[in-house]
Amino acid sequence: MGWIVRLFVLMQLVHVVFCWGKHGHYAVCKIAEGYLTKDAMATVKELLPDYANGELASVCSWPDDIKWYYRWYWTSPLHYVDTPSFKCNYKYGRDCYDSAGRRNNCVTGAIFNYTKQLFSAYQGYNPNLKYNLTEALIFLAHYMADVHQPLHVGFTGDLGGTILKVRWYRKKTNLHHVWDTLIIDTAVKTFYGSDLSTMVRAIQRNITDAWSSDIASWKSCRHHDRVCPNLYAAESVRLACNFAYKNATPGSILEDDYFLSRLPVLEKRLAQGGIRLAAVLNQLLNFEVKIGQSL
Ligand SMILES: *[C@@H]1O[C@H](CO)[C@@H](O)[C@H](O)[C@H]1NC(C)=O
Ligand SMILES: *[C@@H]1O[C@H](CO)[C@@H](O)[C@H](O)[C@H]1NC(C)=O
Ligand SMILES: *[C@@H]1O[C@H](CO)[C@@H](O)[C@H](O)[C@H]1NC(C)=O
Repeated sequence: MGWIVRLFVLMQLVHVVFCWGKHGHYAVCKIAEGYLTKDAMATVKELLPDYANGELASVCSWPDDIKWYYRWYWTSPLHYVDTPSFKCNYKYGRDCYDSAGRRNNCVTGAIFNYTKQLFSAYQGYNPNLKYNLTEALIFLAHYMADVHQPLHVGFTGDLGGTILKVRWYRKKTNLHHVWDTLIIDTAVKTFYGSDLSTMVRAIQRNITDAWSSDIASWKSCRHHDRVCPNLYAAESVRLACNFAYKNATPGSILEDDYFLSRLPVLEKRLAQGGIRLAAVLNQLLNFEVKIGQSL
């Protein structure tokens, strides 16, 4: 019994160290749900496993839960892309490979991959049915959120901040975990009555209000591409340099100054992730387009 508990605690620890926490993924997918067209929502519901009860947000952290299992181990490099330390820029060809050197095995490669799978199934002339589209949907929703977390496009030297030890108030932690989880958790406790949905609603209000004139530019990609993960990654590494790494060096104690100035940056990233996820799903899962194209 004892070792099982310890193993569980250990897995929890390992888990919290490496991923946009459950709250971040829930928020991005919840925001996206609000902007899905009727067609896209219907297809999402068809694809979701029964236990999701028709709610995309309820399964969006699944890729974090499974990546520790042998069968899914290959997915663990797909959550992030590391960039050369202190360069503050990102290039697909230079940066998108895993530790074994396999190209395209990174978060931006995965977004292209799963977008392509859903596209060929729903919009292509030759539906390619060899893929599991439930998995494709959930992976896409998850990695779209990850690529918006600035430190998922962090430096190679500190593994995206995971080995950069800091304190969050009195708690010993690492910078990556601050951005995955602790800023959100502290905000939920401090400003949103310990209720994540209240935080999500506050972000949604900003989307329809303070940021409403920016939404069109968030959604658009150059050359009418369906999805532009390279752009999202380039934004993330800039934010990593200007906000995440700034004034956070090994041993830093991050408190109110850091928290209050970084929270708005993070909340906007959750909004952008959600809006862009909805935009790409609306294009991929829209049957009207398919009928129109094949005529
Ligand atoms: C693309 O998706 C397939 C099916 O899940 C997977 O086997 C492959 O490793 C993926 N590649 C990338 C780069 O995501
Ligand atoms: C698709 O993937 C999900 C999640 O891994 C799994 O539960 C389901 O059985 C798979 N469907 C098929 C047809 O293999
Ligand atoms: C809403 O937008 C304002 C102005 O950009 C910003 O200061 C505030 O932090 C935002 N709040 C949320 C919840 O995103």
